[in-house]
Amino acid sequence: MREKIDSILEEIKSFHAESLSQAEEFRVHLLSKKGKISVLFDEFRTVPNEMKKEMGQRLNELKIKAQEKLHELKEKLEGSESSLPTDLDLTLPAEPFVPGTRHPLTIIRNEIIDIFSRIGFTVAEGPEIEDDWHNFSALNFPPNHPARDMQDTFFITKEMALRTHTSSVQVRLMESTPPPLRAIMPGRVYRNEAISARAHCFFHQVEGLYVDKNVSFTDLKQAMLYFVREMFGEKTQIRLRPSYFPFTEPSAEMDISCNFCEGKGCNICKYSGWVEILGCGMVDPNVLENCKIDSKQYSGFAFGMGVERITMLRYQVKDLRLFSENDVRFLAQFRSAI
Ligand code: PHE
Repeated sequence: MREKIDSILEEIKSFHAESLSQAEEFRVHLLSKKGKISVLFDEFRTVPNEMKKEMGQRLNELKIKAQEKLHELKEKLEGSESSLPTDLDLTLPAEPFVPGTRHPLTIIRNEIIDIFSRIGFTVAEGPEIEDDWHNFSALNFPPNHPARDMQDTFFITKEMALRTHTSSVQVRLMESTPPPLRAIMPGRVYRNEAISARAHCFFHQVEGLYVDKNVSFTDLKQAMLYFVREMFGEKTQIRLRPSYFPFTEPSAEMDISCNFCEGKGCNICKYSGWVEILGCGMVDPNVLENCKIDSKQYSGFAFGMGVERITMLRYQVKDLRLFSENDVRFLAQFRSAI
């Protein structure tokens, strides 16, 4: 009996199971009614009395060892079998990783910033909720003047409104920093306009300001020519038409030669060969004085453009509403290095 117990102990020790069913077979082999251990318990009756105590102890230990081993095997195999589903094919290629793209307006805004940074313009930012002073009064809009209606305003209170242009940031910059100043102001602006393919109640601008001694209209023209040639290509021509803004004098609107038909006439330029892209002018001395800059010593130019407009021209987008609809089929078409 002793030898039999030892050989079964040896068997338990060296047994390995690859699956739960193998472990179950082993249980039947040892512990079922006709299993090896159960048979030994039957034989126990024939053991001489003086050896009963010792053999009884050994038999019980053997049974416990067998149960422990089976418990251990079950735990191990159950864990590994559930974490390894049988339909897992490790040779399959991985799911394709689709990287996101920048929003077209972000791409063009970054390009505008990059172009102006190469001629020394830094970036200035300001709040979207603005007071009357920074959005209107400091910019030479007289109280109750019809010029305030040029830009239909979303008022929050009598004093506060959503900014209608980023010229408000120009005021903040002039108030806080002594000249020379050379900065552009990108940002979102709001106007109470009916939404259509060409206008929205919110859009994006980049305005620019240069204040120093002896800044002239020639500097403005040259800076604008440099910008459009970087943005739309070397052959691009500019045309300035007299215009009116309360904060610049003289003021102009600037057209570029149509980059689609190269001036021949198409439906983008409405067969004129020119498309309007920005407003500009020499900073009105009143504005400089409002910001405590001596207008006898300093002069400056300013300009402002809509990022949507530039983006539409660059990518031939015909409906500005596409920019805010978040349709990935539209957005995924734009790729950029910056
Ligand atoms: N602030 C003007 C606008 O929003 C643009 C502009 C800026 C015009 C600076 C002239 C000079 O329409």
